[in-house]
Amino acid sequence: MPADSPKTFYLETFGCQMNFHDSEKVVGTLLHEGYRQVDTVEQADLVLYNTCSIRDKAEQKVFNRLSDYKKYKKQGKTFGVLGCVAQQEGEKIFERAPYVSLVCGSASYNKLPQMLKQLEAAESGNTASSAPISTPAAGAPPFAVFEGWESMLPTSGDPNLWNSGGKPAVKSASRRPAAESLIRITGLDDRETDACFETEFTARTNPHRGYITIIEGCDKFCSYCVVPYTRGKERSRTSQSVLAEARQMAELGYTEIQLLGQNVNSYKDSEGNLANRKTFAELLAAVGEVPGIRRVRFMTSHPRDFGRDIVEAIDAVPTLCDHVHLPVQSGSTRMLDAMQRLYTRDQYLERIAWMKSAKREISITTDVIVGFPGETESDFAQTLDLLEEVVYDAVFAFKYSPRPNTPSLKLEDAIPDEEKARRLDILMAKQREIQITRYKKYIGTKCEVMVEGKNEARCQYIGRTTHNKTLNFTVTPTANPKSGSYVPVVVTGSFPNSLLGELVV
Ligand code: 5AD
Ligand code: SF4
Repeated sequence: MPADSPKTFYLETFGCQMNFHDSEKVVGTLLHEGYRQVDTVEQADLVLYNTCSIRDKAEQKVFNRLSDYKKYKKQGKTFGVLGCVAQQEGEKIFERAPYVSLVCGSASYNKLPQMLKQLEAAESGNTASSAPISTPAAGAPPFAVFEGWESMLPTSGDPNLWNSGGKPAVKSASRRPAAESLIRITGLDDRETDACFETEFTARTNPHRGYITIIEGCDKFCSYCVVPYTRGKERSRTSQSVLAEARQMAELGYTEIQLLGQNVNSYKDSEGNLANRKTFAELLAAVGEVPGIRRVRFMTSHPRDFGRDIVEAIDAVPTLCDHVHLPVQSGSTRMLDAMQRLYTRDQYLERIAWMKSAKREISITTDVIVGFPGETESDFAQTLDLLEEVVYDAVFAFKYSPRPNTPSLKLEDAIPDEEKARRLDILMAKQREIQITRYKKYIGTKCEVMVEGKNEARCQYIGRTTHNKTLNFTVTPTANPKSGSYVPVVVTGSFPNSLLGELVV
């Protein structure tokens, strides 16, 4: 590589939209720092994984990736682990994957440029810089540089050591003398951070619709959930900064915005001018009124904080999409209590009733966990019953997965995996039937879709409705709707998860 050619990086993202959007900000930050993004690990100098630890399966994915690192490290690549697994496992990652040089939780992303400079300086042998060579203690600088030993390498060649569950794989492995100098940098700001990761350099991947983070972290502490520990405490951006970003996106040609947060409903504006502080519903409406913006979505809502004013905003502002994702988790109040969800089945259904009485039909989707400790057949039956009562447009269902640090870890995970799998199958089969009936109702109606692309093999265009449904449609031979445009489509057919239609000419 010529001395002046930019360093290259490869970034792979796991998990939710928050992670996906964080990655867009990380990519923008790295590009601004002079790095060049490449499509494969082979081409990269710096390999980053933005990780998810919401369920054990997600967490294992990154350790599977890292088990490949050894062959690449020999090629001089540098590895970094970002996101929730980084925050959760911290320096333990160095034990499971000794060749990782950078471990950075999401609350420390705004320090990434500094950390990368430290890493580069350290790797080129210039560590006379100011960074501390220790773990950050309370009140200490935001990140630490470790230098020196090649520790905790597995003494056996067993590759499974790298995939051995949530615990350090080689806890008591003998330390070998330093074969090479490994540089380790951690950014593990904990729940105390007040900062949001705001950057003007976000590298959005889609030119028509994009995310804006309005709130980071979570203070809800549902008993099964790792997020409050990995993403830190709740901190909101000011409405002024969110609206400025929305206006800037509109000027760049974006027409759809999705407001993001682990719990957007607990958004708290800290705008300097008290009189201008906005509630979440007011912020939503204000983003919907930005000239040029045609669709606004938001994700995710917590039922406890979901106010009627949100439905009123959807009624009042036509650009707000007719879709609300309102995770219920269980249809049994007893389970909701054990999950520390802070609402009852009836309170949840009250929110559903608000949405059902809206002027426009609101599409409702949800998340469900099956097999939470202590879930009886009767609790599960109440969840199935809730699906029938609400008639969701989509349900994202998960088997309960015990997570580190969470209160429910202390409960006996008494429901065997096969039983969780059985309940999951039953639930998904029921929801499939509900969706078959529900989606058929759209046949004959006219919907506006945003064109997302073309499926050449099927000669179909791919569109998305305001309800967030995929509507694949055909056009007359002369028509060629552009990606990002909005066109009317009449629905001619339906499947359990999508609709079929024809462009209206
Ligand atoms: N086990 C299973 N599912 C979980 N979720 C969060 N934590 C867990 C867990 N420990 C699910 C919830 C949440 C969604 C994003 O992931 O349904 O709404
Ligand atoms: Fe996790 Fe509950 Fe916070 Fe959602 S509201 S991120 S499920 S703790």
